[in-house]
Amino acid sequence: MMSDSAPTVTGTWATRWTFILAASGSAIGLGNIWKFPFITGENGGGAFVLVYLICIAMVGIPIMMSEVLIGRHARHNPITAMGQLARESGASRLWGGIGWMGVLAGIMILSFYSVVAGWSLDYTVELFAGNFNGKTGEEVGKAFGEGLLQDVPKLTLWHTVFMALTALVVALGIHKGLENSVKLMMPALFILLIGMLIYSATQTGHFGEGFAYLFDFDFSKLSVDAVLAALGHSFFTLSLGMCAIMAYGAYMPKQASIGSTVITVAILDTAVALVAGLVIFPIVFANGMEPTQGPGLLFVSLTTAFAQIPGGQILGGVFFLLVSIAALSSSISLIEPSAAWMTERFNMGRATSVVILSVIVWIFGMGCLLSLNEWSGEEYQVFGMGMFDLFDFLTANIMLPLGGMFIAIFAGWIMKRSVVLNELALKSLVRFNLWRAMTRVISPLAVFIVFVVTLYQKFNGA
Ligand code: TRP
Repeated sequence: MMSDSAPTVTGTWATRWTFILAASGSAIGLGNIWKFPFITGENGGGAFVLVYLICIAMVGIPIMMSEVLIGRHARHNPITAMGQLARESGASRLWGGIGWMGVLAGIMILSFYSVVAGWSLDYTVELFAGNFNGKTGEEVGKAFGEGLLQDVPKLTLWHTVFMALTALVVALGIHKGLENSVKLMMPALFILLIGMLIYSATQTGHFGEGFAYLFDFDFSKLSVDAVLAALGHSFFTLSLGMCAIMAYGAYMPKQASIGSTVITVAILDTAVALVAGLVIFPIVFANGMEPTQGPGLLFVSLTTAFAQIPGGQILGGVFFLLVSIAALSSSISLIEPSAAWMTERFNMGRATSVVILSVIVWIFGMGCLLSLNEWSGEEYQVFGMGMFDLFDFLTANIMLPLGGMFIAIFAGWIMKRSVVLNELALKSLVRFNLWRAMTRVISPLAVFIVFVVTLYQKFNGA
């Protein structure tokens, strides 16, 4: 696939649709189905959702376009791309640092991501085996919190299996590995989610309550932390701020339109999150559970429904299988930038670089995993958080918004206008100017203001 003389990456996605599939495969994952519902619950529902939607439209979409255009213009891994474009634009090579922070963020995210994907693999097996049949909400809750989360050997097994699968797909390269895995699975996930939506709308008797929870905008419930969480999640869910989409952009065909492609991905991603919320909250309310229960929400609420309904054994097994696959199509994009960089920089085989990276992630992942049980004591905490929560907080709420802000500044202020204009090839100058205003001013300012206000509040509120 790679030719020796080629100065840049040579693989390209087969068509524009494969890019959309791969980018939505990256975007749609545990962030949508696991994280979005539980942080919405933790942050009080509606108003949080509204801020999240605004962030997707005003910050996420322009920054995603920036990542794609940088990647496609440079046709290199993110670290090389940023360094090279900086030179081309007469700017400091320090811009390459964004690529570095991306590599680090990718490793940190994948550490806890792989643990959660492991839960999903475990639930796939348990549900197919019928182990939850007939269990009540309380029993399902116990099986998760006091069962699975305390079972270190089991958690380790599934975390290891998931990392091995991720490594395998990335090592196979973008055609065999990435494209094929998303082509079938994404549509299947979609169909199953719609099926679940019909169930939750017609069978739970609490659909209205769930709907209101997501879409009644009660601003009195909105805290500064919730705004930071909404901003951070809009980066996390679109896979932005760590150059993952930039790495994928390097493989995007030249003639594909960046604007409409990115908007399609953002809409698909948002739709999956909202549908997941509409499936989960009615089930939560129907079973008298708390929406605020945190990371166990998906695993407890949905599993309770599967435990009760006829055919839940099969449906549930299929559901968690698809969630696991959605997680896999995201996890590969967390390693792809660093793998591409190591391959290009050190002239290594793709497989070698992937193995090295996966072992590093596996070790950090063990730290995250143990922070849920053996290392849950205060002596293992930093800022009151164990490693799992700390990695989640640092990446989603700090590193991704910061990375995204610099990417926006780079595309808006550093890159030559003519280069960007040509790369985006938008249909009208009005659209181009709109994108430019968003990337130059609105997105960086939004991130900056949220950061400053959060810090201000931390120091005054403490
Ligand atoms: N977006 C994915 C999800 O929602 C997670 C993910 C994949 C990601 N690649 C990323 C998050 C890069 C941030 C950056 O599950």
